[in-house]
Parts: sequence; structure tokens; C-alpha cells
Amino acid sequence: MKEIIFATNNKHKLTEVGKMLAGYVKLMCLDEIGLSGDIPETADTLEGNALQKAQWVYDRTGKDCFADDTGLEVEALDGRPGVFSARYAGEHCTFDDNINKMLAEMEGKTNRKACFRTVICLIENGVPKYFEGRVDGVILTERYGKEGFGYDPIFMPDRFAVSFAEMPLEVKNRISHRGIAVAKLVKYLQEQ
Ligand code: IMP
Repeated sequence: MKEIIFATNNKHKLTEVGKMLAGYVKLMCLDEIGLSGDIPETADTLEGNALQKAQWVYDRTGKDCFADDTGLEVEALDGRPGVFSARYAGEHCTFDDNINKMLAEMEGKTNRKACFRTVICLIENGVPKYFEGRVDGVILTERYGKEGFGYDPIFMPDRFAVSFAEMPLEVKNRISHRGIAVAKLVKYLQEQ
């Protein structure tokens, strides 16, 4: 089975993506290959950050690897927080801090449209290739549900009546930004 390094130490992501790739590739995270240190993430686009993270791992291992970067883009906030979604409420903020800030900024706003966008950069034999996934929905006015992570309790995808945090992981994976991007990656790897 083909081995690919996933440039992440985020356990939530590893579980989500690992489930989708099971059977096609052997996924290894940074811990497993003994790589430590903070991967730089200083670009101002999702594509730039995904490439930067994947390249960092490739330069140190010479092995095929991929990285992802995700942003929540809110229409009434002119696309913010976007690439800054993790640090929306400040440098060392928690998921809860980010949600509180989002609820406060969105208070009274009638246009609540938003989307999650994920870009995956796969580096295969030194060459980068990109896969994108997007899910549209709305920002809720309060938290619902306990599953998932990040902004899940306040994001409700279109055509659903529940937040991401109220869905079983299998359902979220089928329709989510990362799920769609990973499905495109899987299709590409299957065709190899
Ligand atoms: P990252 O670049 O993939 O680490 O994502 C940046 C930030 O977006 C994370 O810190 C989360 O706050 C948020 N995020 C990413 N993916 C999701 C998701 O599936 N649900 C909710 N929030 C997410």
C-alpha cells in the first residue's frame, strides 16, 4: 500500500481524513515519522499555506505528503476570517473564543451566509497538486451540538436543519469541505 505523510498533528483531522483514506493509502502523521516543531503557516491564502506546510515536510523527508488548510468565509464579514480562522480571536485563542467573537460580530446581521473552504496540497515526487472542497451554509445565532470541533456548533450546512456539531462524523465527512477535498484526493490516488 502506498504510504503518504499527512502534514498534521491535529487528531480530529487525522481521524476524519484517516477514515476516508482507509484501504487506499497508509496515512502517517508527523508524530509517527518523528518530525516535530511548528510547521510554518504564514501565507495569506489557503493554497499558499497548504503548499507551505506540505513543502516543509517534503523538504525534510523527501516523501510524498499532503497538507490541508481551511478557512471559514463569512459573506457579511467580507470573507473573514478566511485564512485567519484559527487565530480569529487572537494568537492563542480557543475554539470557544473564536465562536464567541463570531457570534458577537454577527449579532443583528440578516445575511448569515458563509462557507468552509479546504485546499489540500499533495506533493508527489516533488510536484504540488491541489484539491479543493467547499460547503455552503449559514452562521447560527447560538451554539448547537457537541460533536466535531472549531466552528461546528454555529455552522449549519445548506439543505440540513442541524449544525455540523449535531451530525455524526460519517455524515459530516460526506458533505464537508474537507470531506469533498479528501474525496477528490482519494479519486486521484485511486486512478494512479
Ligand atoms: P486549519 O487550517 O485546517 O487548521 O483550519 C483553521 C481553522 O478553521 C481551525 O482552527 C478551525 O477553527 C476551523 N476549522 C477547520 N476545519 C473545521 C471544521 O471542519 N469545522 C469547524 N471548524 C473548522
